[in-house]
Amino acid sequence: MSDNTEQQITQNVLESMAQAPNPRLHAVMQSFITHLHAFIHEVEPTEQEWFQAIQFLTRTGQICDDKRQEFILFSDITGSTMLVDAINHRAEEQITESTIFGPYYREGAQELPLGASINLDGGGEPAVVSGRVLSLDGTPIAGALLDVWETNENGLYEQQDPGQTNMTLRGKFRTDSQGYFEFVGIKPVSYPIPNDGPVGQLLRAVGRHPYRPAHVHLLVSAEGFVPVTTHLFVSGDPYLNSDAVFGTKDSLVVDFIKNDSKKEAAHYGVQAPFYTVSYDFVLKPRAR
Ligand code: BEZ
Ligand code: FE
Repeated sequence: MSDNTEQQITQNVLESMAQAPNPRLHAVMQSFITHLHAFIHEVEPTEQEWFQAIQFLTRTGQICDDKRQEFILFSDITGSTMLVDAINHRAEEQITESTIFGPYYREGAQELPLGASINLDGGGEPAVVSGRVLSLDGTPIAGALLDVWETNENGLYEQQDPGQTNMTLRGKFRTDSQGYFEFVGIKPVSYPIPNDGPVGQLLRAVGRHPYRPAHVHLLVSAEGFVPVTTHLFVSGDPYLNSDAVFGTKDSLVVDFIKNDSKKEAAHYGVQAPFYTVSYDFVLKPRAR
């Protein structure tokens, strides 16, 4: 144990944790050290490179505050967030797939009547989003809750932009007795994740862009069912194959269909042209 050579040091570190009282932490740290040392052996960093990595982590911590969480962003752009999500939400094929939660959810959106608009500032291209919430066996779920949020037409969430009305483009909707929901938002736009910090520097250094494909966020829940955190993505978006946070899933890409009819627009209380999109969410009953 006293001879910390290149060949011996990994074993020494592993043995140093042999008395860890928490078996899960013990297993996690054993694996972490094993993989970390294997990485160092493979890369053979210079001391300058190692210090650069430490400076990156230091800057990542220093830019964090109650509004900015750069470590989560780092987890997102390395695909780690979505890998953890995938492992924790392995599900039957028919269940609506989950995706990244993101940092822009806010508690306390108003519950609105079906068909209401969440667009308090009136910009963007109107989109009528409708569908049903179903159980795995196809039974409609009455009283399911959809908590939705999206950016405005400039690609900013309201809390990022003092020019927007507080809580605009957020709302909660409850399905009717047929499991049906409907609300009016805007056709989502693609937007860049925050890239003025160390994560942005890293993206540029490895030749990546910071954009997410256009999407609307939804948290879908119902009594007795496993909730799902998900998105609807706009088909045809140029960033669908290069989402900066690897959040896309094919099953969540939908057509926003353009409608030029003034009469139909009036029915939904919007201006023509507008878009419609329909999607059925499928939830898994909770194990009893
Ligand atoms: C979002 O979609 O809101 C988001 C997700 C991950 C990082 C930044 C933004
Ligand atoms: Fe988003």
